Amino acid sequence: MDDKMQATPRAARDAMSALARQRVEYDDVDLELPADTPHGIFTRWYEEAGEALGEPNAMVVATDDDAGPAARIVLLKGFDARGFVFYTNYLSAKGRQIAAHPLVALVFPWHDMQRQVRVRGVATQVSGRESDDYFALRPRGSQIGAAASEQSQPIRGRGEFDARVQDLEARWADQEVPRPPHWGGYRVQPYEIEFWQGRLNRMHDRFLLTSRDGRPAPLDDASAWSAVRLQP
Ligand SMILES: Cc1cc2nc3c(=O)[nH]c(=O)nc-3n(C[C@H](O)[C@H](O)[C@H](O)COP(=O)(O)O)c2cc1C
Repeated sequence: MDDKMQATPRAARDAMSALARQRVEYDDVDLELPADTPHGIFTRWYEEAGEALGEPNAMVVATDDDAGPAARIVLLKGFDARGFVFYTNYLSAKGRQIAAHPLVALVFPWHDMQRQVRVRGVATQVSGRESDDYFALRPRGSQIGAAASEQSQPIRGRGEFDARVQDLEARWADQEVPRPPHWGGYRVQPYEIEFWQGRLNRMHDRFLLTSRDGRPAPLDDASAWSAVRLQP
């Protein structure tokens, strides 16, 4: 043991050892190679996640730039044969990263049900019309918040942001809040999706569905995808 380790307080060492020993055993389930399209499998898993989890649409989106990868949670707001849609500020850190590097990864961390879905795909902005339709569905407070926030930019204090919100509330007091042009959706069109099912003794089942030509393909077209089982 080196000097540094000896200097580690006993309580800290006990905590580290407790962390190393922390272990949840997964259930004894088996998955077969799915005879369904990526759209069909994700739809079923999403329904099952909805029954088990509070916010199954919370997903991690990973982007990157010259400084390295970056990941954060966003909410899934649309899913169909074209892909996965989330909404954000196009001028945020993630928006700028996607503009420069449109390849992104998604993770649905459904570990409370011993599952995970991973996606690699190409992110493109949805149409202005699609963003308008979703923006109109949002509660007014969220619309004002989207308009007030220069997401990912520093701000001197909470008071400055609150004042901006009050200004916008006054400006649009008797009108609908217009969607800011820099706020809208991205659709992630997958070329890879992995379905992961935890199993006893960490012998997990993993199925990787890959688009046959390596490019984004319709998720409901079985002929465009091939599936393999991966080792845990
Ligand atoms: C549960 C949860 C849901 C979130 N949903 C969104 C979302 O749908 N859109 C969004 O822009 N940020 C969302 N956020 C905030 C992001 O994680 C992140 O802080 C923000 O988008 C700024 O990221 P960026 O600076 O990398 O662009 C959510 C955070 C959490 C914890």
